[in-house]
Amino acid sequence: MSNRYEYAYRRSLDQAEEFWAEAAELLHWNRRWDRVLDDSRPPFFRWFCGGQLNTCYNALDRHVEEGRGGQTALIYDSPVTGIVQTFSYLQLRDEVAFLAGGLRASGVERGDRVIIYMPMIPQAVMAMLACARLGAIHSVVFGGFAPRELATRINDAQPKLILSASCGIEGKKVVEYKPLLDEAIEQARHQPQHCIIMQRPQCQARLQTPRDLDWATMLQAAQPVDSVAVQATDPLYILYTSGTTGIPKGVVRDHGGHAVALNWSMRQIYDMLPGEVYWAASDIGWVVGHSYIVYAPLLAGCTTLLYEGKPVGTPDPGAFWRVIAQHQVKTLFTAPTAFRAIKREDPQGEYIRKYNLHSLKYLFLAGERCDPDTLLWAGKMLKVPVIDHWWQTETGWAIAANCAGLGLLPIKPGSPTRAVPGYNVQVLDDTGREKTRGQIGEITIKLPLPPGCLPTLWNNEQGYYDSYLAEYPGYYRTSDAGYQDEDGYLYIMSRVDDIINVAGHRLSTGGMEEVLSAHKDVAECAVVGVADQLKGKIPFGFVVLKTGVTRAAEDICRELVQAVREKIGPVAAFKNVLVVQRLPKTRSGKILRGTIKKIADGTEYRTPATIDDPVILDEISSALATEGYPKK
Ligand code: COA
Ligand code: AMP
Repeated sequence: MSNRYEYAYRRSLDQAEEFWAEAAELLHWNRRWDRVLDDSRPPFFRWFCGGQLNTCYNALDRHVEEGRGGQTALIYDSPVTGIVQTFSYLQLRDEVAFLAGGLRASGVERGDRVIIYMPMIPQAVMAMLACARLGAIHSVVFGGFAPRELATRINDAQPKLILSASCGIEGKKVVEYKPLLDEAIEQARHQPQHCIIMQRPQCQARLQTPRDLDWATMLQAAQPVDSVAVQATDPLYILYTSGTTGIPKGVVRDHGGHAVALNWSMRQIYDMLPGEVYWAASDIGWVVGHSYIVYAPLLAGCTTLLYEGKPVGTPDPGAFWRVIAQHQVKTLFTAPTAFRAIKREDPQGEYIRKYNLHSLKYLFLAGERCDPDTLLWAGKMLKVPVIDHWWQTETGWAIAANCAGLGLLPIKPGSPTRAVPGYNVQVLDDTGREKTRGQIGEITIKLPLPPGCLPTLWNNEQGYYDSYLAEYPGYYRTSDAGYQDEDGYLYIMSRVDDIINVAGHRLSTGGMEEVLSAHKDVAECAVVGVADQLKGKIPFGFVVLKTGVTRAAEDICRELVQAVREKIGPVAAFKNVLVVQRLPKTRSGKILRGTIKKIADGTEYRTPATIDDPVILDEISSALATEGYPKK
């Protein structure tokens, strides 16, 4: 075992305040904190109270002032447009200062919310940093969500401005964003004062005056502005994530704890030094993109890579290797699904051999459980440590990982290794008692959570308490189930709620059920996540029609697929739905979703003793067989 890891881990729990104060010293503070940890109102804790800083200043200006102005801060690599563009720290600082000036001139002040609904272009990164510079709170919404999802977020965040672009480019498809934005605003109760639209050459958006402003025109008139010092406990951003209903949760991230934790993580988890190139192949719409495309690499003075492309098809399964070789990437971070996509098209790794990958030292994977096959394949092909690590939108950085900067521990495929310093991870049983090693229970984190984790939900402290703190007093509930082995390695086995991970994207099956139930012909339904070789899980719907419905099942199924696409978005990848006569239930009326899932996956199941009518399981089984499930 690595002594450095053991030492850091123990210290982070036994002397948490000293530990995090030392990490905080590496940043620039406009005012030093009064208390490292405010524990006066448990179970609510706050880090660096009284401290003032600015995240954008720490991510950009600080490096320029320390002499790194000429170093590349951001590389934009876009195989879908053929553009590769670099920005030095000085250039990026100036671009962001002008954009912040433009936003301020458009009415944005400290504490105002700004929604960013943009594709993977440098202006999206600049927009996030410009909000941070002003002390405005950004909320990035992933482009693959439908207008209704965007409208929900507009209503909750109540943004003064929305920043968007004319289109995104998905492989070979141009996806127009503006009609989706217009529809969302039409559906929303809250109306933004302005939308600022970046026109891309691939498609010109129609602007509605006076609401919509052209991005370039706004910038031409802008004056650069300095960063605004904010409280360490002020919100930097809100990121909505799937909860157990169709209503997403607004995860709040504060300035101080976030900057301290992310800066620490770059060195200690990812083994990154200033000047080295870090690539998180994700999307800025997800937490991985927030933390590891934008904030962490820049806070740490690294070069970050913004990739507008896919692992395959842009143009081939060698896309990742081309980027690594061309830009000398040291650490790649992506979701296992990306590797499954590559492996499917290039199982022998022929494309890998075309490139010189000597710069690559680590591959980190997260977002979903990494199956050992994928992990071993990636390790064999790339010949670097492949590190699975586990985290959530709520924590903002890894809960469990193999901390490369603290000395690698032995890798055990199937485990994201051990708790990261700062996280006191405990596996509990239903009554809140600690499980013995090797036994599955619910994984929790003893409070306080380390800096960087969510202090609350946006305008919803009660919801924060109810969702995360109420079930196990004194602990944060992760809603993941799993166990710890004798060496303290964690194994994350499943969610205890209705969340599924589809191609690394977090979705609520409950939210999809709400859409299906709203169809006029549907009496009841169930959506379960079934195993998929590429995406990890895909949603599968089962519907019972209302008595007397005589329309063709195929037509209804087509409408249901379309409804989920329109109401949640293409990212849900909801393509499978079956009409069945009945759904299996317990005698008390609870739908046996777990059993349906096992039948679809072809895993062994026991007929639950409480089942209402066991014959229904055979009916489900034969209905699935007609669709080719379980897959061989
Ligand atoms: N804007 C608009 N539409 C989007 C979108 C965006 N930003 N992102 C995805 N979509 C659409 C896709 O075009 C697709 O639409 P379709 O049904 O019309 O084909 C749908 O949403 C599903 O997209 P995706 O899940 O990306 O599936 P895919 O089949 O296009 O690609 C992978 C599969 C594995 C290649 C892809 O999911 C991938 O690269 N994953 C990487 C994982 C990742 O980034 N995870 C984030 C957390 S680390
Ligand atoms: P998200 O909030 O989208 O990052 O999704 C978080 C959820 O994804 C976690 O609660 C887990 O269920 C799952 N997850 C993320 N990373 C891993 C991992 N390395 N292993 C297993 N599950 C993971």
